Amino acid sequence: MDSLIFFSVLFLLLCAAAAAAAAAPPCPTARCGKNKVPIRFPFRLQGKQPESCGYPGFNIGCESQYTISLNLPYSGEFFVRDINYLDQQIDLYDPYDCIPKRLLSLNLSGSPFVAIFRQNYTFLNCPTQVTKSRFNSIDCLSNSTNSVLATSSARLASKMVSSSCRIITTLPIPVSWTTTDDEEFTAALDADIQLTWNAPQCGVCEEQGGICGLKSNSSEEIACFHTPRRKAEGLQAFKVISLCIALPALAGAIGIAVFAYYQERSNRAREIRMQLNNGTAEVLPQLAVVVTGLDESTIESYEKIVLGESRRVPGPNDSTCPICLSEYLSQDTIRCIPECKHCFHVECIDEWLRVSSMCPVCRNSPSKEDAGSHNDPV
Ligand SMILES: *[C@@H]1O[C@H](CO)[C@@H](O)[C@H](O)[C@H]1NC(C)=O
Ligand SMILES: *[C@@H]1O[C@H](CO)[C@@H](O)[C@H](O)[C@H]1NC(C)=O
Ligand SMILES: *[C@@H]1O[C@H](CO)[C@@H](O)[C@H](O)[C@H]1NC(C)=O
Ligand SMILES: *[C@@H]1O[C@H](CO)[C@@H](O)[C@H](O)[C@H]1NC(C)=O
Repeated sequence: MDSLIFFSVLFLLLCAAAAAAAAAPPCPTARCGKNKVPIRFPFRLQGKQPESCGYPGFNIGCESQYTISLNLPYSGEFFVRDINYLDQQIDLYDPYDCIPKRLLSLNLSGSPFVAIFRQNYTFLNCPTQVTKSRFNSIDCLSNSTNSVLATSSARLASKMVSSSCRIITTLPIPVSWTTTDDEEFTAALDADIQLTWNAPQCGVCEEQGGICGLKSNSSEEIACFHTPRRKAEGLQAFKVISLCIALPALAGAIGIAVFAYYQERSNRAREIRMQLNNGTAEVLPQLAVVVTGLDESTIESYEKIVLGESRRVPGPNDSTCPICLSEYLSQDTIRCIPECKHCFHVECIDEWLRVSSMCPVCRNSPSKEDAGSHNDPV
């Protein structure tokens, strides 16, 4: 009983701990207005989340209902299109819609972000008459007299110089993939700037469904918290709590059922024994029929069996005597009622049949005519 109480207390404590853990993530995911990009570690929504929710250099600003921004120390403000926490990538675009201009002055030092790949691009300034409708010029850098072109092909760049173009600069531009033999001027530099970060490494944690976070306020060490995502948190805690209630309830129900079954069995046995002691069934309302026992010769005519080593009892019987509830042993002599094939210890059933002609199990009256005369040990 003591150990039962001990385990119950232990179980409840574990349940409480599990429910608390399921309900408390390190920092909940934040959102800016109607913007769909979730903001969580290593990023932090400035002004809405405490510093401990993010990593240095990963501050996200809430510009408007729909816009979030990232400030790079030497390149100024960019708007954030998307954050891929699994691949550790961030997509940036220019608030003034001229990414090539931003690329010309991009300096990532002082920020945690680096280019995924870099490719050298040469920027050229050409008279508009030369390039007119023949090449993809960068519209936001061009005007009516001068067009700006960019190419990753050094060969093409040098060819253009000979046709009155001037090289502005050659820069390693951050790109998501590199192209080879790109013999074209490209306007593809209008695409978002894709950057990645090397620290903190939270991709693996994200992949496992965990939530990355700082181990403590005072260090930059990170930890992976294996708690469910924001939407599932309440549900998860609810599940844990219901399980904690359901399991003991189920155990209790099974216990009561088993107890009731044995209670019923022993009540039945007691009934039978009481009936034997009184020599009458009058004390038992459900047996309130006129009881007449059988005579000795009829009782003796019922089949008697001596159990062998296997202790196997024939017919619809289990391994205990329904009257005394003790298990049959080998060499026990049992007697079976021919009509219903129910068997009992010979001492138990003989005493019963002297006061009642009914089978104690199924309450059928054995017919005296059917009784054969056997006495064969098994
Ligand atoms: C960590 O910082 C947050 C706010 O920045 C504070 O609420 C929390 O209590 C701090 N935790 C510890 C362990 O110092
Ligand atoms: C970026 O800016 C810093 C500070 O102005 C400077 O020291 C560094 O040389 C710059 N890097 C590049 C690649 O221009
Ligand atoms: C870009 O050009 C510089 C020289 O201007 C060279 O050192 C560097 O290796 C080139 N980078 C790539 C990715 O081709
Ligand atoms: C066009 O841009 C060039 C620089 O690329 C500048 O020198 C020129 O004055 C501009 N022309 C007009 C009409 O704005």
